[in-house]
Amino acid sequence: MEFKFSVNELFKQPIVELNQNLIPPGFSGDRRALWDTVNKVSEVINAMGEASAKAQGLSKPITTADRLRNSEHRLYLLVDQQANSGKGAVTGMLKTGSKGLYVFDREGQHYQVSPPCVLDFYVHDTRQRTGLGKRLFEHMLQKEGIEPVKMAIDRPSEKLLGFLNKHYGLHSPVKQMNNYVVYDGFFPKASDNN
Ligand code: ACO
Repeated sequence: MEFKFSVNELFKQPIVELNQNLIPPGFSGDRRALWDTVNKVSEVINAMGEASAKAQGLSKPITTADRLRNSEHRLYLLVDQQANSGKGAVTGMLKTGSKGLYVFDREGQHYQVSPPCVLDFYVHDTRQRTGLGKRLFEHMLQKEGIEPVKMAIDRPSEKLLGFLNKHYGLHSPVKQMNNYVVYDGFFPKASDNN
């Protein structure tokens, strides 16, 4: 996704991590520059959030700048620094965060947990199935020090279920009443309690 301003001036790395302050890593400048930067970051987040919602057939975006500001979520943005005649383009977005959940295993045993969750994941429509999603997801796993099987996935689309199966061998999702999905290795083993 392209913007009228330079994405490369805003985001200095190919993958940037944002949190509630909406300040990109490496920012330096005065108050006015900060205000301008946060406005541009908000525009990027809102546009990517809208596009993600559209791609998932949702009536409202899950991700907006306001919602990020009022959360402890992390938002990873993938940047193609060569695109748009060197101004750069944002090609992917992945939002994670912990949620307090009740989850049931296949036997009906329930657990109260606060796992890291995949909350919103989107690769630009023109770039899907070219490995960008894997790149972004791998970066997040490494930064958060987590295995995919230990994450809960919020309302996964068929594409995301396919993605997790293809890249991480996750299959036979255990679907929850709260619309989250987990996989068999998610649950603590009985021996973990000893
Ligand atoms: N149909 C079926 N499977 C797909 C599709 C598709 N159109 N697109 C991606 N996949 C899965 C497949 O397993 C595919 O492997 P294959 O091409 O060999 O079949 C694999 O993902 C490709 O891996 P990447 O190229 O690394 O993934 P991509 O860059 O496409 O990113 C993503 C995956 C984020 C799911 C992307 O396809 C996308 O944005 N889809 C639309 C929005 C969406 O559904 N997001 C997830 C919503 S649920 C949530 O966010 C919690």
